[in-house]
Amino acid sequence: MLMKDIIEKKRNGEALSKEEIEFFVNGYTDGSIPDYQMAALLMAVYFQQLNKTETFYLTEAMKNSGDVADLSGIEGKKVDKHSTGGVGDKTTLIVAPLCAAAGVRVAKMSGRGLGFTGGTVDKMESIPGFCTSLETKRFIDTVNSCGMSVIGQSAHIAAADKLIYALRDVTATVDNIGLITSSVMSKKLASGSDAIVLDVKCGSGAFMKTPEDAETLAEWMVEIGKRAGKSMAAFITDMEQPLGLGVGNSIEIIEAIETLKGKGPEDITELSVKLAGYMIFAGEKAGSYEEGIEIARKNLYDGSGLKKFREFVEAQDGNPDVTEDFSLFPGSKIVLEMKSDISGYVKELPAETVGKASQLTGAGRARKEDAVDLGAGIVLNKKIGDYVNKGELLATVYSQSEEKAQKAGEMLKTAYAFSDEKPEKRQLIYRIVR
Ligand code: URA
Repeated sequence: MLMKDIIEKKRNGEALSKEEIEFFVNGYTDGSIPDYQMAALLMAVYFQQLNKTETFYLTEAMKNSGDVADLSGIEGKKVDKHSTGGVGDKTTLIVAPLCAAAGVRVAKMSGRGLGFTGGTVDKMESIPGFCTSLETKRFIDTVNSCGMSVIGQSAHIAAADKLIYALRDVTATVDNIGLITSSVMSKKLASGSDAIVLDVKCGSGAFMKTPEDAETLAEWMVEIGKRAGKSMAAFITDMEQPLGLGVGNSIEIIEAIETLKGKGPEDITELSVKLAGYMIFAGEKAGSYEEGIEIARKNLYDGSGLKKFREFVEAQDGNPDVTEDFSLFPGSKIVLEMKSDISGYVKELPAETVGKASQLTGAGRARKEDAVDLGAGIVLNKKIGDYVNKGELLATVYSQSEEKAQKAGEMLKTAYAFSDEKPEKRQLIYRIVR
């Protein structure tokens, strides 16, 4: 088989076979296929598309190019949750304890933040002592004893995806439905759970800018997961503005804890309860999605989710007392209050701009190797639909550096747009694809 023939076939709009797809995935992973040929193939795919069968073969080939987690040592159904990325999305840290408290096993491998989106692993590391790199046996033991564990995704999961994604990033071939689907799903399938609930974001702070595009991506991912034998569902949710009020690392853990105490913002609470409700249903601890929601809500308001969170933190060497004493988290030297220059209703607050402002505080990283400031970030005081008086607090910026805080504050101010009319309330969950 020759790579040149595969490129030509795709360039001419023909579908590739399973063998051809395995050939280029394995060849690119072992270095026998050079970047220039892979780049040409990616561009041919970009223009000619992959059909769903090709996407399935690509997903399986990339999954098999690295480690595939063996979770057979965990009793019961394992349910995973994955968000396509956003700003202020701390739902994993609320959803997983709500599910674990219902008896559903959550063995989760998460990523770090990059660019304007945050990552669960960085957020968890703001808890003093917390360990995100458990070896496999301890990961499985923790899920068995505590019902949940969250660790950093191994560097060896879907090895081919890592290489291909880096090439897509520099060849303008990221935003292609077949390539995104196979990239996300290869990692999810390699993570070994029985059921996967996806949260596909749409809006300014997401890959997919409209509910229609997000729905198409959700349908593709659900279909590929089902073909691989998984129980699947995808929520399509709003990311036009940040989720919740806190954006950062320790700032988001604190909001997750407040939510588990029943004192969280309305959007975070609603989305967490509904995602957890679906996972409890998928994990066969509820007879329906509606019953799952009831169980999740009960676990949130009776404190059993919070108790589970504390158990999980302790099991991974973190200090569980952070739930009662937020001063145990890393703090910030600079606290900058951003006041409004005008009165009116908040009309726009693009998640992407808020995410970039948070990155400027030091809470995010521009390159993979950058360190993050675990105490830095933003707490919003006003979101879309809120009325603000001139001089009233819009948001607070936290950073170790005066200069970074000032730059972040300036960017944050550009994010807010106002109107005299009260804007319509945004819909949080557009649809569930199953
Ligand atoms: N996230 C991924 O992991 N892969 C993509 O292709 C896009 C977003």
